[in-house]
Amino acid sequence: MKIGIDKIGFATAQYVLNMDDLAESRNVDPDKYSKGLLLNNLSITPVNDDIVTLGASAAESILSEEDKNTIDMIIVATESSVDQSKAASTYIHSLLGIQPFARSIEMKEACYGATAALDYARLHVQKHPESKVLVIASDVARYGVNTPGEPTQGAGSVAMLISKDPRILLLNDNSVAQTRDIMDFWRPNYSTTPYVNGIYSTKQYLDMLKTTWAEFQKRFNTSLADFSAFCFHLPFPKLALKGFNKVMDKNLPEDFKEKLKENFESTILYSKEVGNIYTGSLYLGLLSLLENSKNLVAGDQIALFSYGSGAVAEIFSATLVDGFKDMLQTNRLETLKNRIRLSVEDYEKLFFEEAAIDSEGNANIPEYKTGAFTLKEIHEHQRIYGKVNDK
Ligand code: HMG
Repeated sequence: MKIGIDKIGFATAQYVLNMDDLAESRNVDPDKYSKGLLLNNLSITPVNDDIVTLGASAAESILSEEDKNTIDMIIVATESSVDQSKAASTYIHSLLGIQPFARSIEMKEACYGATAALDYARLHVQKHPESKVLVIASDVARYGVNTPGEPTQGAGSVAMLISKDPRILLLNDNSVAQTRDIMDFWRPNYSTTPYVNGIYSTKQYLDMLKTTWAEFQKRFNTSLADFSAFCFHLPFPKLALKGFNKVMDKNLPEDFKEKLKENFESTILYSKEVGNIYTGSLYLGLLSLLENSKNLVAGDQIALFSYGSGAVAEIFSATLVDGFKDMLQTNRLETLKNRIRLSVEDYEKLFFEEAAIDSEGNANIPEYKTGAFTLKEIHEHQRIYGKVNDK
């Protein structure tokens, strides 16, 4: 059976921090961010826009009523969850009006979670061919003011509808995962921001890539020559570029290497404007590739490298299907220009503002601009979400 991504959508914050503004304020050479990290802008969420509202907005942008009546599983992959017990997908299930007989869960392993979710979705559809599964990778990446990770923050959500006979790409039944118990990046329950061994994390990312790719090639008797593009987890685009250079085979013909390079540049276009969105970053890279590459055609193979700190890596592959371009947008970079540019002072207030919960567990939530959904209030410790403008 052919199973894969039938639809893919994206949502991000309505506010943006420009990297040159941040560099000036932090007394850093702007080239360090624009050339050293390959970042131009970061999406900044206010307190009423979180993984639930972003995830619901990303999914709402792609789902039809027929999809909502057919989806029987919703998986949210995240590492910036709003609750230790209740899955974010239960809120999203209700906000989207998905039929009641569905399973809703949340999955976690740093930025890797959505890759495990996709595999579970694929196996579920294999067992129940009429099912559709909604996989949402949703995160707010917040490192803190004046930390080394600050220029790599971001926020966003990628929603993917998994079904049989998909209209974008097939998820091939080949993957190699690797686990290492390391402390490169982690966030204990008592902390709102992560602890990071930054340079160590980049070395682990690159070494997990090298060793997993070697094993993948060996197990599936394949090589870079079989692929038209390689997508990488994108904590910041410069690290993915280093990854791309690591997997590059210098013996390939020049024009083929050029095609791979062009496609790599397409994978990082959105990430340059949004920053790290943790679980969704790899899939934002995939979306960016599909919507911007000039040379991809049906039948092309794409390799994907997923990495989540802690750490788990996985390489797997996908095959493009006929008509995939019809399922995509062409003006996303233009839309991103509509975000509201914040001064550094306003970014510091907006991104780190927390709900002021009183002793009864109530909080009024300020009404900042969001996508289609917003956190309206907290009432007796319960988060109340709704559509924007619904009273
Ligand atoms: P840093 O202090 O900015 O490091 O921290 P740097 O001094 O090495 O500078 C970065 C780059 O800018 C270097 O480029 C410099 O040369 C260059 P490179 O040598 O590596 O190619 N540079 C300049 N370029 C042009 N003009 C200049 C200039 N100055 C410097 N004037 C670090 C970088 C990544 C450590 C930091 O941003 C950080 O801690 N980030 C957060 C952690 C992270 O993103 N790690 C990535 C791997 S782990 C991962 O991917 C998982 C993750 O997504 C989380 C999860 O799984 O949940 C993070």
